[in-house]
Formats: sequence, structure tokens, C-alpha cells
Amino acid sequence: MKKIKVDTNAVVYENLDELSKEDSILIQKATEAIQSSYAPYSNFKVGACILLENGEYVLASNQENAAYPSGMCAERVAIWKASTSFPGIKMVKIAITVSTNLKKVDKPVGPCGACRQSMLEFETKQQNPIEVLFMGEVGKIIKVQSVVSLLPFSFDNSYL
Ligand code: THU
Repeated sequence: MKKIKVDTNAVVYENLDELSKEDSILIQKATEAIQSSYAPYSNFKVGACILLENGEYVLASNQENAAYPSGMCAERVAIWKASTSFPGIKMVKIAITVSTNLKKVDKPVGPCGACRQSMLEFETKQQNPIEVLFMGEVGKIIKVQSVVSLLPFSFDNSYL
């Protein structure tokens, strides 16, 4: 028996001014995407934007449902929208932001486990990492170079 330490790599930016122009635009578009959020039940609005390798931006937001589990997170709406609108075009990066009237979210909101798994599927499929940037309404921004960094011991199609 031995214990192992699993660590991950991320970059923490203090504020939007520290981001590259490309990342700053992506966060801005994810914030714009919040406008289309349909979150009457949680009032927790999430926006996401994917940059594709052909330069297209894919904006998406969370879409809730009175039958709660039928709702969908912004990230999965975004990747499935990208995959259906631009099949075969690689995803370069995704940015995620939030807005809620419940409280000021001042720490980065990481994608939920199911979204990490769904993003990993497309990262594996395209054989190229997808960068993930996420933040709260204000404050620090976290960036990882690959979905794998968010999902140690992950399950993928190599097991099947
Ligand atoms: N939500 C997302 O859109 N992305 C996540 O990664 C976490 C949660 C949404 C789902 C639901 O509409 C609301 O946030 C509250 O959970």
C-alpha cells in the first residue's frame, strides 16, 4: 500500500486586467450570455462561451425546468450547441461566469462534476485540450489548461 498525492495545475488571476485580450473577450462574452439564462427557480444565472478553432464564439446559459432535474447547466448547453452547430470544429477554450441576486458571488465558480465529465468527452474526442476559465461575478479568475486538470481519476472511453 502506498499513499499518492494527486495535484493539479491552475493559474489564478487577481482581476480581469491580468487576462490576455483573447481571454478577456471570452469572459466578456460569457457574461453577455448570462442575459439568455432561464433560471427562475434558482435565480443563479450562469453564462458560458466557447472559442472554436475557426474563431467562432458559442454563447450559452443555464436553462432550468419546473421538473428540476430536466434543467441544464450553461457549460453543457454550450458544448452541445458547439458540437451540433459546428460539428468537427475543435473547441479551444471555454469561459464561465455567473450572476445572482441572492448574493455577490466573489469567488470563482467551478463547473459541476457532470459538466466536467461532458467537457472531458469532447476534449478526448478532439485530441486537443480545452482551456477552462471560470470566475464569480467579481474577483479572481481561475484558468486550467485542460479539462483533465479539473477531473483526476476520470472515466473515459479507454475503459470501454
Ligand atoms: N449551473 C450551471 O449552469 N453550471 C454549473 O456548473 C453549476 C450549476 C446551474 C444549474 C442551475 O440552473 C443553477 O446553476 C443552480 O444550480
